[in-house]
Amino acid sequence: KIDAVIFDLDGIITDTAHFHFLAWKQLAEEIGISIDEEFNERLKGISRMDSLELILEEGNRQHDFTSIEKEEMAERKNANYVNYLDELTPEHVLPGIMDLIKSIKTDGIPIGLASVSKNAETVLRALNLVEAFDYCADASKISKSKPDPEIFLTACKGLNAVPERSIGIEDAVAGVESIKASGMFAVGVGKQLSKADYQLMSTGQLQWEKIKEAFNKWND
Ligand code: G6P
Ligand code: MG
Repeated sequence: KIDAVIFDLDGIITDTAHFHFLAWKQLAEEIGISIDEEFNERLKGISRMDSLELILEEGNRQHDFTSIEKEEMAERKNANYVNYLDELTPEHVLPGIMDLIKSIKTDGIPIGLASVSKNAETVLRALNLVEAFDYCADASKISKSKPDPEIFLTACKGLNAVPERSIGIEDAVAGVESIKASGMFAVGVGKQLSKADYQLMSTGQLQWEKIKEAFNKWND
């Protein structure tokens, strides 16, 4: 029996992971730090302030700014990111996701969201997906970002689900770590996610029957 399926948002439901990257890249360039997509893998699933710290470390500038300046930089990055969200419509739900949600619902299994983003609600609204989720664990409900298990455990609790009987879906290294630390079954979508219990390269390959099969094998 499966208690719940809990989705990450950015990079799983829609490609906002790319918007986060573009916005961070611009901010980093403004202070003379260059970041590439490979470095960006480390930012996925990490809170806004923690991401900024990682970028400053990358440029060896972690001691160059006051906390007020850092707050201001994080706000600038967010303003830039939110601009990209203006273009987001229900057509931007990634391939395979709507079918997957439908299949899970047909089986009567509750669906949750686990995103540390303060923009999670805005994104879900733009995609017209607020109603699809039975429970959303977001930045307002947690104090530690991924890879800490807090966010997935909070989502399980909100759905009355036992973690060991639940499935988490993630595109981030830190996200898969968070799922595993919570005791859940991890579906990883993308590169570098060999720690996942079941790994795919794109959301278009997500098939509910296959995921259930893998979960049942793991659960044996
Ligand atoms: C998600 C994304 C991260 C982002 C974080 C905070 O975890 O994967 O890239 O930094 O949310 O998002 P926010 O919208 O609050 O800046
Ligand atoms: Mg993600």
